[in-house]
Amino acid sequence: MSRKRVAVLISGRGSNMAALIEAAKDKNYPAEIALVASNRPDAPGLATARAAGIATAIVDHATYGKDRPAFERALQAVLEQHRIDLICLAGFMRLLTPGFVSQWQDRLLNIHPALLPAFKGLDTHKRALAAGAKLHGATVHFVMPEMDSGPIIAQGAVAVRDSDDERTLAGRVLAVEHRIYPLALKLVAEGRVRVVGGRCLIDGVPVPDSASIVPGEPG
Ligand code: GRF
Repeated sequence: MSRKRVAVLISGRGSNMAALIEAAKDKNYPAEIALVASNRPDAPGLATARAAGIATAIVDHATYGKDRPAFERALQAVLEQHRIDLICLAGFMRLLTPGFVSQWQDRLLNIHPALLPAFKGLDTHKRALAAGAKLHGATVHFVMPEMDSGPIIAQGAVAVRDSDDERTLAGRVLAVEHRIYPLALKLVAEGRVRVVGGRCLIDGVPVPDSASIVPGEPG
């Protein structure tokens, strides 16, 4: 089976990108990271990608001002140039238009640092702590036009500790992110994920063990 060609879109640090690159080093992994693209020329993740020998591209949103469709046309051109099959958003801080999202329907993944549908948007760890949440975590989902929504592919949870602050909680959630993103991409690249009625079925069932990481994990 040929490996799916994946573009990872970043805006910053790129630790999830690095986790995907690491997973894809395994020849048996069903996807290869063919491109890392950033909307910010100064994203630190670009250097990490280059060091790993991966093609990089910068599509600077600032060049296009408020013209989102023009930015996305430039992005689409780069994706086509690299014959991309699947896109993984990984800390990509631009909202994509419904037009772009529908063009990539069921081929566009995102990771969000909360157990969706709880805590959409920013500052998720702070808000989880403020709400007294006992469980928190991360979600990989297919992207829909509405922000941080879409069929859930994989989730990982951590128990919130009494002693947690934003930093410690974020650190444990990030470790979970680095596990569930490669897992979710693998399931999608293997063609095992189907969206039915707004939900993901994996191998034909709604909630397979293979797509969740539950509390009680070390760390
Ligand atoms: C992660 O927490 C991710 O869930 C969120 O943005 C952060 C990006 O971190 N969407 P990194 O750039 O992958 O290190």
